[in-house]
Amino acid sequence: MNEILERVNRLKKEKDAVILAHFYVDGDVQKVADYIGDSYYLSKVATTLSEKVIVFAGVNFMADSAKVLNPNKKVILPDITADCPMAHMVTTAQIKKVREMYDDVAVVCYINSTLELKAESDVCVTSANAVKVVRALPNKNIFFIPDKNLAHYVAEQIPEKHFIYNEGFCPVHNYMAVKYVKDIKKQYPEIKVLAHPECPRLVLEYADFVGSTSGIIDYAKASKDKQFLICTENGVCHKLKENNPDKMFIFNDLSICPDMKKITLQSVIDSLESLTPEIVIDKDLCEKALKPLEKMLELAK
Ligand code: 13P
Ligand code: SF4
Repeated sequence: MNEILERVNRLKKEKDAVILAHFYVDGDVQKVADYIGDSYYLSKVATTLSEKVIVFAGVNFMADSAKVLNPNKKVILPDITADCPMAHMVTTAQIKKVREMYDDVAVVCYINSTLELKAESDVCVTSANAVKVVRALPNKNIFFIPDKNLAHYVAEQIPEKHFIYNEGFCPVHNYMAVKYVKDIKKQYPEIKVLAHPECPRLVLEYADFVGSTSGIIDYAKASKDKQFLICTENGVCHKLKENNPDKMFIFNDLSICPDMKKITLQSVIDSLESLTPEIVIDKDLCEKALKPLEKMLELAK
């Protein structure tokens, strides 16, 4: 690993590049990253970098957002096919229809979405800031896209607003089953359940903590408890184990995001060498998608 690390560091210097990695990518990729975090942290960090090139170890909505927020930088996604299926689970026609039905509606777009959807939305959110951002909006009616589970979670925290739901979901989190959680709790009566808000509502009812990937990692570190069931994608295991060698974590073997796992150490090295595949976005689309992303960064401060 040392040799690889040296090679990556040499390439980073040579190309004036920085590596951003989401917690869901492979542990080996996280090891060579300059910044590791959840999607909110990574979108904020992307606006503060001095390097000319950003290599984004994540899926394309993350790299797209980094490019929109930094149009003058070269943004590289090591595997251009790394996509989030949920990002496509609503249409601009549906947004138009809801806008026609409600005068004062705010279209709140989870960052896990295409740029075309962001361009038609009022504000973006991530799982870390959705409650804060939605609460700060003056609108009573909220059309929350694309994730139904996160939408219901946010709606429960803000009962004074009226939510219009969409049927999108994350294929990795949505299949987390209540029976599985109950079985683990029966086996380990002391265990604490830490869940991402993309999990189904019924699973969240059993959670001791609900939060973004960073939220889950921070909670486990600060907690005096020793056993945790982690209800999110398994990539978080690297940071959790590194931070808490004395604690026990149970991960669901099925919670693997195949798109996040497309980003391998080799693809990161190749993309640093060739500076491809580059994220290229139409100027008009870039300008339209920038507004809701900037509004999120402003309201989430
Ligand atoms: P975070 O907002 O916690 O980074 O989650 C992103 C994601 O893709 C969850 O599936
Ligand atoms: Fe998308 Fe789910 Fe993968 Fe996150 S874990 S990138 S929401 S498919």
